Amino acid sequence: MEIGAATGRNGAEALSPLHPAPRHVGIIMDGNGRWARAHGLDRLEGHRRGAESVREAIRACPDLGVEVLTLYAFSTENWRRPAEEVSGLMELFRVYFAEEAESLIREGVRVTFLGDPTRLPADVQSMMCALEKATQEGRQLRLVVALNYGARAEIANAARRLAEQVAEGALAAEDVTEEALASALETADLPDPDLVIRTSGEQRLSNFLLWQAAYAEFIFLQETWPEFTQESFAKAVRAFRARDRRFGASFG
Ligand code: FPP
Repeated sequence: MEIGAATGRNGAEALSPLHPAPRHVGIIMDGNGRWARAHGLDRLEGHRRGAESVREAIRACPDLGVEVLTLYAFSTENWRRPAEEVSGLMELFRVYFAEEAESLIREGVRVTFLGDPTRLPADVQSMMCALEKATQEGRQLRLVVALNYGARAEIANAARRLAEQVAEGALAAEDVTEEALASALETADLPDPDLVIRTSGEQRLSNFLLWQAAYAEFIFLQETWPEFTQESFAKAVRAFRARDRRFGASFG
């Protein structure tokens, strides 16, 4: 494709050598509960509508030039929610993994997970393994679902693994570098996120990709997650591409 020649179906601007598309986008999907309350509906209905927005976000990626999409679906802190909401979310994951497998395979989406699966219901864990296996040949998009994920736990686990190697004599203490720690994280095979989007007006990371988002751009949207569309995504990517990223360097 000639640079500067085309506009994607979603209204994404043409790829520019100065302002490339974000390779990896992370999304903190917030506001399902507020959306439900505003519509006089049950919180779980908000999460169900949130799953529709997940479909929208996935479909938007190829046209926007996004290669990796990481979605914060359930944090280690989300267990503190009422039991009924937690079990409703687990049921939603079951339904989503079962219903979406075919279209994810068809659309070339490879699904992997971040976080500690061991606290999740056994059948959800099996479905996650099955989905990873069934989609492993997907090359259009890497979809990373953060499920029972917390960045501090991820970093602590990586530090522990390196400490064990040092204790065994397999690694010298001076070789515990940024690169070594990054390689011990669950995201070792992924590029760092270029862009993190959070919906619903809150402006915080909430324990999401704390290490990896060191140089990410942040876009906070007022709309709730169920209101998020392909056009919302395209707009956020346009805003990202209009920004100058300096990675700590000064303006030239
Ligand atoms: C935050 O909204 C949302 C969540 C904790 C759950 C996210 C889950 C989904 C979007 C369901 C589908 C996901 C997949 C991957 C199939 P909130 O409940 O905290 O909203 P509030 O702050 O308005 O209460």
